[in-house]
Amino acid sequence: MQIIRDIATLHRAVDALKRDGKSVALVPTMGALHDGHLSLVRMGKRVADHVIVSIFVNPTQFGPNEDFAAYPRDEARDAALLADEGVALLWAPYVAVMYPAGHSTHIEVAELGADYCGAARPGHFDGVATVVAKLFNQARADIAIFGEKDWQQLAIIRRMARDLDFKLDILGAPIARDTDGLALSSRNAYLSEAQRAAATALPTALKAAAVAIAGGADVGESLAVAEKAIIAGGFDSIDYVALADADSLERLSIFRTPARLLAAARIGKTRLIDNLAVG
Ligand code: PAF
Repeated sequence: MQIIRDIATLHRAVDALKRDGKSVALVPTMGALHDGHLSLVRMGKRVADHVIVSIFVNPTQFGPNEDFAAYPRDEARDAALLADEGVALLWAPYVAVMYPAGHSTHIEVAELGADYCGAARPGHFDGVATVVAKLFNQARADIAIFGEKDWQQLAIIRRMARDLDFKLDILGAPIARDTDGLALSSRNAYLSEAQRAAATALPTALKAAAVAIAGGADVGESLAVAEKAIIAGGFDSIDYVALADADSLERLSIFRTPARLLAAARIGKTRLIDNLAVG
């Protein structure tokens, strides 16, 4: 597996992979890889001839009081995992390559980025949309694959690609979960043993709310029950628990499909997100 850090070499390597009409799938990541990321790579291998993975801890999607400096980084371990999966190329640019001095263009997906995580993390999705657009232009893949765990991010990236006429298919991969239901996340590494045990309250409460809402229960009441269960389970605070239109992300007070339950809650200093399809 080639590890590439500059754009000219990347373009040559991608041209070589695409020779003879071969297709390429891109899996953008921030590293600290877990089985969830590897499931995206495996999906890439099923849908394309070659898989490129990017590892870039993107400073512009972290707020001033967030965990950019502390974000887990272990490129050697990540590279070994990717090589074992048969990844063709690891794109791991330095910050100065991604954002050379004077970089001043940003993308804002206004309608979808304001609520939910966008409200709790101002500027976060502008940073995500901007770096993902750059990754699309750099890797020139035919397909890009993102986890459904960050449903809002996936919706924003789809809208950005549509609005800016990117010519690639965007696939969402189902959330990879631990045996007790907790969604796999690089941030789970921050949890103490007790917090890790308590964290299952999030998927458990969402599942109960999804079943209740699909069965005709009142949306507002079901969300309130879920919030209480998450706090009773050991979380310290809730950023949001909401029922949303799965595509437009409009908040729904009356159930209709396609709908998604979205949640973010904090346990200690760690903020966890999760979501589920309803109906
Ligand atoms: O989901 C992530 O890991 C990041 O937000 C992404 C899409 C790689 C952009 O930095």
